[in-house]
Amino acid sequence: MTKEKRSLVTIANLSREKILYLLRMAEEFERRPNRQLLSDKVVATLFFEPSTRTRLSFETAANRLGARVIGFTDPKVTSSTKGETLKDTIMMVSNYADVIVMRHYLEGAALYASEVSPVPVVNAGDGANQHPSQTLLDLYSIYKTQGTLDNLHITLVGDLKYGRTVHSLLMAMRHFNPTFHFIAPRELSMPEEYKIYCREHGIRFEEHEEFGPEEIDQADILYMTRVQRERFTDLMEYERVKDVYILKADMLRTAKENMKILHPLPRVNEIAYDVDDNPHAYYFEQARNGLYARQAIICDVLDITLDNIAQ
Ligand code: CP
Repeated sequence: MTKEKRSLVTIANLSREKILYLLRMAEEFERRPNRQLLSDKVVATLFFEPSTRTRLSFETAANRLGARVIGFTDPKVTSSTKGETLKDTIMMVSNYADVIVMRHYLEGAALYASEVSPVPVVNAGDGANQHPSQTLLDLYSIYKTQGTLDNLHITLVGDLKYGRTVHSLLMAMRHFNPTFHFIAPRELSMPEEYKIYCREHGIRFEEHEEFGPEEIDQADILYMTRVQRERFTDLMEYERVKDVYILKADMLRTAKENMKILHPLPRVNEIAYDVDDNPHAYYFEQARNGLYARQAIICDVLDITLDNIAQ
């Protein structure tokens, strides 16, 4: 292969222009999702960790673009149980597929896979590290609802330690002059490395442990997260913090009119069901936006441009 590989491992490498370009592509796919752009391509989805939205939206994206999909949803049915290494698995799959979408429980697994793979690799989540395709759909959701990505107050609530989606989101937002409000119990606060990242990139942030109308009222985007049970080594600690913040409809009465509630989903208890019909709730539409954002990502790593798709 002579062409440079175009893997998507982290959102941190994407410029403002590239992000806005991918959002324009997503917009184009939302306008018309079914296009035979990939009828000669095979997309592999390798999920070493459970998923509903990410895998199904990537597979739907590939199907709606005319590609065929191979892959697995459970590593127990693969030869990794016989001791096959990640490198060998990636080398094998790259014999069969034109692009690999991979979720893995190890931080750094996607970067490693991209380094050994002859075909592009898309990170569908690596441990508590990064989830760049989620971030692109989050950015698309923010852009659609706010009309801009610039100068917004974004309040991140819940598990900011293990939640990879919030780590990716704050890195992507560095281009757009945000103000972040981090709301987490001390045990799940934003890791120091991401606070250093904010300071180095001039991203304003405040930290709070309280969560009520006063904190909600300042937000343009209220980004709720699940406490990531699967990342805890001490389940007693999980039990202590799992229900610390629960958003209920009566907490939203004085929120900004256009404030939207995002959540990468799945939710457990952190958003009460009475919020679902509230005009501020946007998390189900957000998940739908994932289809268009992932169509844009698959096309981009396969060198299909906005001009190609807009024809
Ligand atoms: N948001 C997200 O990554 O959901 P899944 O774990 O269901 O893919």
